[in-house]
Amino acid sequence: MFESKDKYFGRKKGKSFARLEQFQRFLFPPTKEFFKKIKKPRVLEIGIGDGEKISADAKLHPDINYIGCDIFADGVLRAIRNSKENSLRNLFVFHLNIQEILPLVPIKYFDGIRIFFPDPWPKTKHKKRRTFNRELVKALSAKLRKNGYIHFATDHADYFLDALVLLQDQDYRMDNISPNSWKYNDFNALDTKFEKKALDKNHKLFYFSVLKNY
Ligand SMILES: C[S@@+](CC[C@H](N)C(=O)[O-])C[C@H]1O[C@@H](n2cnc3c(N)ncnc32)[C@H](O)[C@@H]1O
Repeated sequence: MFESKDKYFGRKKGKSFARLEQFQRFLFPPTKEFFKKIKKPRVLEIGIGDGEKISADAKLHPDINYIGCDIFADGVLRAIRNSKENSLRNLFVFHLNIQEILPLVPIKYFDGIRIFFPDPWPKTKHKKRRTFNRELVKALSAKLRKNGYIHFATDHADYFLDALVLLQDQDYRMDNISPNSWKYNDFNALDTKFEKKALDKNHKLFYFSVLKNY
């Protein structure tokens, strides 16, 4: 089996793994040549979770190429199953940490990047485990085209504010800076598993969309 070797703190397999195991044969390590062959527009999703959102969007927008990754095997395999069942030619998913993928991607490659409900690591001593950190934002920015977007969603106010500050430091703009631009309305119902969980718990949800200035 091909899988990520990187240090990672979350779950790697879930209850559905046994049912999806057969799709492991479709996993492959990406290469620089592979990325060069994928046509624009290209959207990256970091942490695809159960794999349903990226699969649904790939089905809905056959003209957009979706590239996703996760360390959690079940979602990646489910996305592969969805892709095979629906003959999707615009969905590419990897069982890898995003840090392992980025060095293979050309600069100014993505038109958009999305990260929905990243693991919050709310305890102060665990904050350094957060995926969306200064190092990643810097690496992502090099791979995003000018005026490309980053969509971010979380139910943790603290993560939301930290992420916004990181992006402001890297020269991103938010066209309409008002509470309305980050309340639960703009992206209304992304329909991801963790958004549903947060809604069930009556958590406040935070979303933003920023554009790269350079
Ligand atoms: C809380 S879940 C959210 C999943 C999904 N986006 C949603 O909204 O339901 C966070 C996901 O990010 C994945 N993840 C965490 N760090 C990652 C990294 N460095 N690279 C790729 N995926 C990562 C986890 O395995 C997990 O599936």
